[in-house]
Amino acid sequence: MSESAVPAPKFRLRESFTGRNAFILVAIGSAVGLGNIWRFPYITYENGGGAFLIPYLVALLTAGIPILLFDYAIGYKFRGSPPLAFKRLHPSAESIGWLQVGICFLIAIYYSAIIAWAGMYAWFSLTQAWGDDAEGFFFEEFLQYDGGGTGGTGISIDFVAQVGWPLIAVWVLLLVALGAGVRKGISAVSVVGIPLLFIMFIILVGYSLTLDGAAAGLNALFTPDWGALTSGTVWIQAYGQIFFTLSVGFGIMITYASYLKRRSNTTGSGLVVGFTNSSFELLAAIGVFAALGFLATAAGTAVDEVASSGLGLAFVAFPTIVSEAPASALVGVLFFGGLFLAGMTSQISIMEVVISSVKDKTGWSRVKTVAIVGGLTAVLSIVLIGGVSGVTILDVVDAFSNNVGIVGGAFIAVVMVTWVYRRLDVLAAALNRFGSFKVGPIWKAMLGVVLPVVLAVLLVMDISDKITEGYGGFDTWVVVTFGWGSLAAIIVASIVLSFVPWHGTSALHEEDPDRDEAGKETV
Ligand code: ALA
Repeated sequence: MSESAVPAPKFRLRESFTGRNAFILVAIGSAVGLGNIWRFPYITYENGGGAFLIPYLVALLTAGIPILLFDYAIGYKFRGSPPLAFKRLHPSAESIGWLQVGICFLIAIYYSAIIAWAGMYAWFSLTQAWGDDAEGFFFEEFLQYDGGGTGGTGISIDFVAQVGWPLIAVWVLLLVALGAGVRKGISAVSVVGIPLLFIMFIILVGYSLTLDGAAAGLNALFTPDWGALTSGTVWIQAYGQIFFTLSVGFGIMITYASYLKRRSNTTGSGLVVGFTNSSFELLAAIGVFAALGFLATAAGTAVDEVASSGLGLAFVAFPTIVSEAPASALVGVLFFGGLFLAGMTSQISIMEVVISSVKDKTGWSRVKTVAIVGGLTAVLSIVLIGGVSGVTILDVVDAFSNNVGIVGGAFIAVVMVTWVYRRLDVLAAALNRFGSFKVGPIWKAMLGVVLPVVLAVLLVMDISDKITEGYGGFDTWVVVTFGWGSLAAIIVASIVLSFVPWHGTSALHEEDPDRDEAGKETV
């Protein structure tokens, strides 16, 4: 029988972005998140001020960009969510992908709550609902936090209506966007949200710089402490910040790159995303510290009295700044609205890893996957974080999934792909095919040598610290259940899931990474 008599196989076509700009915007949407707005300013301030920019830049160039391109290469070359891409990379590598999915699942459970609080605070800003006591209002009145998990108080999931309902609303928005698909949902949110976020922050920063005391805040932030450069912790903080802020090492960029068309300039896009994210981070730090300088000056104290990170910065210091600032409602809406948008576009990327992976494995439709998997994650999030002990669970899960989870997952992926499966050459060739700059020996040396060493040091220090010191003053059983327990659960789940057979209609069988739906080669 002649070859032409064989009908061309019919393949299902993988969803794709409309083009390079859409990809760059969603990747920036993922990278720019809470890490940029509340983590970077404080980490910089705490770790040497202006001098911290040196380890930060070294970490960006030696770890951030190389691993960003590594993630792009895996998703782009093997065209799949992490489990599918790793399965195609090597038949025994699937569990590495599921581990990354597990980390995203854990982060997704609590990240939405912060988005919901930010949305509520944008609203509260109009009337300064927190009155004179921003701290008491946030923890007691708004969250009704019971301080669970410290000193035997126990953990309770008693629903807090004013927190739970906004959280439900955030989940509805998220699931609608995810259900609408890669172009109409995921891209559309970033195409609108990211330019808006940048405009809002440029206005906010411009305004903050005009406030009394702004210079004092910037001096506190940037005055270099060169001695910090000899501290190991400072370097570890720089690498940790780069991983979280660039969204690398936990499956997001693999998933997004799997939606790229074949003729895509992956390396050029990676540089744009990396440097835009860092520029936004710097912009946010200038805005936040100018505002903190204003707060300190108004209160007649030093900047270190008012500077804090995370929840304290966003929901205690900033409301106080809003109350004191001349254009209060505007500052509040810009800051909390920005936090809401930055969180939304990052949370969509985190959830898309989970949705895309289950969809690839089962062959279910997007809507069915979003309804089942998204619905389950939403319920867990609402029950665990929407209750009176939500902050405890959020804090512990965050500390373990973000540090141990992301760094450990990245270490396993880099070492296995580089040293065990030896696929770096294949990945480099994929990047170089249409990339505007070529990766070569330096990129391979970063991944094969520098990163494994850095990641191993980060991991050992973090794990030994958590074993010896516990975490955050919480009861041991709380740390063991929600911290170590959640990590153990995702490790076991990732191994078990890698043994579940791929369904006949799964993407492994139905989508060919190198062909279009008529069976024509696309590479
Ligand atoms: N990259 C995201 C952030 O910075 C997850 O928050």
